[in-house]
Amino acid sequence: MKTSGGTDAMKRRAGESAASTVDDGDVVGLGTGSTAAHAIRAIGERVDGGLDVRGVATSFASRELAIECGIHLVDLDEVTGPDSAGIDVAVDGADRVADGDLIKGGGGAHAREKLVDAAADRFLVVADPSKETAALDRPVPVEVLPSGRGVVADAVREAGGEASLRRAERKDGPVVTDNGNLLLDCAFGEIPDPGTLAAELADTPGVVEHGLFVGLADEIHVGTAEGVRVRE
Ligand code: 5RP
Repeated sequence: MKTSGGTDAMKRRAGESAASTVDDGDVVGLGTGSTAAHAIRAIGERVDGGLDVRGVATSFASRELAIECGIHLVDLDEVTGPDSAGIDVAVDGADRVADGDLIKGGGGAHAREKLVDAAADRFLVVADPSKETAALDRPVPVEVLPSGRGVVADAVREAGGEASLRRAERKDGPVVTDNGNLLLDCAFGEIPDPGTLAAELADTPGVVEHGLFVGLADEIHVGTAEGVRVRE
């Protein structure tokens, strides 16, 4: 069997594996990032072949890609709420995966991602093996109201972390999210109890959403050099 260990090939395998579980008639949450993009392309190919799905985008980027791939899009509020279809499955990437809990928000899209992923009947995480760690250990992206950035940074310091404003790589200024807010990357070192930290961040005035996804994932599809590992 021919194997390919390049990171992009592993991300593609993970994305294709999750995309293959989508059923005809499903409402599908479309995640953000390079691994989720592979899943969106794979769903698009199945749509070309006759699969009938409706997608809910989690960012402007996933919306653009879904349109390019011919996936019919609906707004989250069209499919959620009383007597609505709901979201059957969401497919999304992660920056860290430890014991089923995630850090997301590397692309700054975690607020809409959490809305969509948490609303889905099945939330499938797609990742390459570099994302798997024993403990969540990278800075937690926190989306904040622009005027709340100092207040939230103070609260993060009190909670034992250090907040840095995310800056745009090739532009002079901060990253602005799809929702018009700012991002603080909050370093706590290893996070022994993600649930407690998640609750603390969620309780902080000025926080729109944080990137800790605790207990939300149903399946984790990890693309490897040889194939795909699926953990439930
Ligand atoms: C965006 C995310 C992404 O899913 C996460 O950053 C993983 O990205 P990639 O698949 O490109 O490694 O959370 O907010």
